[in-house]
Amino acid sequence: MDNSVNEQSELKSDKNQKLKDKKDAVYTERRETQLWDVTGAMTFKESESGKIAKEDDPVLRSALQEAGNVLASGGTVAFPTETVYGLGADARNTKAVEAIFAAKGRPSDNPLIVHIASMSQLEGLVTAVNETERRLMEAFWPGPLTVVLPVAPGAVSPRVTAGLSTVGVRMPAHDIALRLIAAAACPVAAPSANRSGRPSPTLASHVGEDLAGRIDGIVDGGPTGVGVESTVVEVDADGTVTVLRPGGVTVEQLARVASAGVRLDAALLEAEAGGGQNITAPRAPGMKYTHYAPRGAMRIVAGAAPERVAARIQAELDAAAERGETTGVLAFDEHLPLYRADCVQSLGSLAALETAAHRLYAALRRFDECGVTCILAESCPQDGLGGAVMNRLLKAAGNHVIHV
Ligand code: TXA
Ligand code: MG
Repeated sequence: MDNSVNEQSELKSDKNQKLKDKKDAVYTERRETQLWDVTGAMTFKESESGKIAKEDDPVLRSALQEAGNVLASGGTVAFPTETVYGLGADARNTKAVEAIFAAKGRPSDNPLIVHIASMSQLEGLVTAVNETERRLMEAFWPGPLTVVLPVAPGAVSPRVTAGLSTVGVRMPAHDIALRLIAAAACPVAAPSANRSGRPSPTLASHVGEDLAGRIDGIVDGGPTGVGVESTVVEVDADGTVTVLRPGGVTVEQLARVASAGVRLDAALLEAEAGGGQNITAPRAPGMKYTHYAPRGAMRIVAGAAPERVAARIQAELDAAAERGETTGVLAFDEHLPLYRADCVQSLGSLAALETAAHRLYAALRRFDECGVTCILAESCPQDGLGGAVMNRLLKAAGNHVIHV
């Protein structure tokens, strides 16, 4: 009797294990992840804060050749862009694109951005570019702007567009990205190189944490610049620019180029208004997921008076500590001395929101490393890059805002 019970439970656990193995097989067909460290080839630009790659660096040249060959032969390679690290594959190759979705655990209804290195690559990819779109590209490419355009039938795998009649295209402003795409000689589909739902990677080590063993290679070019993803826009028939995802190009910058006006997608406005669940479906499918989230529960405290905000944040942190939680706070330099928590992360000065964008995702990952279970964050002004920072903060917090 005992034996048969044992046998049955063994059979059951064996079956469970097989099911688990099968599930794992879907997600992790184990791959050897090659690392190309080309950080030594990056050097500071003379006039700007960004970095450029030394043109004649032999390590970089051979790394890009090898990584380009991996992409051209259907592999997956993570690489730095000026925004965040991307996970690239040949956009025309369905098997390669499927490997991106499998490695990330990404929902299949979320389309991928296609990255190009020259305007000639755009020609075969889309059927039309109107006047406003052309002006946006001239103003912001290479740079952190993705333009959603009508896709040329058969130009990319249907998995890239998730069945839509449009494709998001961008030309990244990063020497390594541009040279890698040119070496691969194909349009490169590349979402952010994180496991789905995790904060986007701004360092190669973030990519390794999430995807080592699941992808074919990582090109380490050091920290990315902007730190939040590209701005995704769609231009309507009347020339109005609709922002589907705020990002590295600000609304103010877009407005200087788009004469017919710029507006935010209705779903973004609802999220900002502080509604829990969106009523309107976002036009960028990816915006409906709780993205960018650390593992701990995160809440934002917002209000006009910084002392009241700080007092409420500290009260919440103290209550959490009392419950035995590990606490974290995400705040601007101006207010850091006001907080006591297990893990204090700075977003830089309120006067320089580009620092907040640059630091945000690494800070969210740091909370995970410290085992933080309860996170309180300050909010930030919405102007300039603050629009994108606040959008990501709201997503990380699942729109949970305490108004004081
Ligand atoms: O900065 C970036 O854009 C980074 C780097 C790697 O280039 N990429 C990135 O990709 O953030 P991903 O996949 O994490 O986010 C792409 C967003 C998603 O919200 C997706 O739904 C939206 O762009 N998107 C892509 N194609 C679209 C389309 N045809 N129509 C509407 N939204 C689209
Ligand atoms: Mg992403």
